[in-house]
Amino acid sequence: MNSIRLLAALLAGLCVYAVAAPAIAQSTRTRVAEVDLPARLKEVEHDAKLSESAFKTGRKVAAVCANCHGEGGNSLKPEIPNLAGQNPAYLIEQLRKFADGRRRNEFMEGMIKAMNSDEKIGMVLFYANQKVVRKTVSNPALAAKGKEHYSKTCWRCHGEDGRGNEKFARIAGQQPDYLRATLRGYRAGTGLRIDPLMAATTQLMTDADIDAVVAYVMSME
Ligand code: HEC
Ligand code: HEC
Repeated sequence: MNSIRLLAALLAGLCVYAVAAPAIAQSTRTRVAEVDLPARLKEVEHDAKLSESAFKTGRKVAAVCANCHGEGGNSLKPEIPNLAGQNPAYLIEQLRKFADGRRRNEFMEGMIKAMNSDEKIGMVLFYANQKVVRKTVSNPALAAKGKEHYSKTCWRCHGEDGRGNEKFARIAGQQPDYLRATLRGYRAGTGLRIDPLMAATTQLMTDADIDAVVAYVMSME
């Protein structure tokens, strides 16, 4: 693992973030990785030795990400997602989406370009094995409303406990501002996040529905 390269990307990325220079970000956009990441992930997951070494690589990568995503992937910033406890296959799919333009965030696109495939696999395995820190409910009435909505639709894909599965993201305990922005992003259809299932799901939600669901989901364990 070449942490100098990742740190350089971090610094370059932070500048892009600060100065918002779209020209730089444009030139760092990358094509889909040549390695078949989902296949490689399965291979590593089924081999104890490969998993162990990937985990170690992942822990080193995570040190670079901790400033934003928190130690062990429990973010301390409401607008930045937790990565702890997230499903590896979902995370790998997101790395691919950032790389091929189906998901837009200039900073993360740059970070992902700086990671090689071993680092990507290691990172998702490391985070998948970290525990999510539960948040306290600040508005029980709102959360109860959100639970009602959740029990009508969301559970079908994300599970009753919000932990998802190999196909669907874990959302339980996710950061509130990130959840809100993400749900609105799917609904708006401006290309920040593209997914037909989530576009359909959020289409009929009002801002109040979203706020209620966020209050519930952030408090799930
Ligand atoms: C400057 C802050 C910052 C740093 C450093 C950072 N990230 Fe992120 N990351 C973000 C933000 C903000 C988002 C949400 C982007 C969006 O809304 O699509 C994000 C999203 C992600 C996602 C998608 C999560 C999801 O639930 O879909 C992954 C995966 C990720 N980052 C991995 C990493 C990795 C790995 C590193 C370190 C190599 C890293 N990030 C470093 C800010 C950061
Ligand atoms: C029919 C299946 C389905 C239903 C129902 C569904 N989701 Fe999703 N959800 C998905 C899929 C697939 C993704 C991954 C999309 C992507 O790659 O961007 C996702 C992603 C998400 C994300 C982004 C996770 C992250 O870490 O960034 C959030 C938040 C979310 N869903 C919340 C909800 C909520 C809240 C509901 C109920 C109102 C809901 N979903 C209902 C399939 C579903």
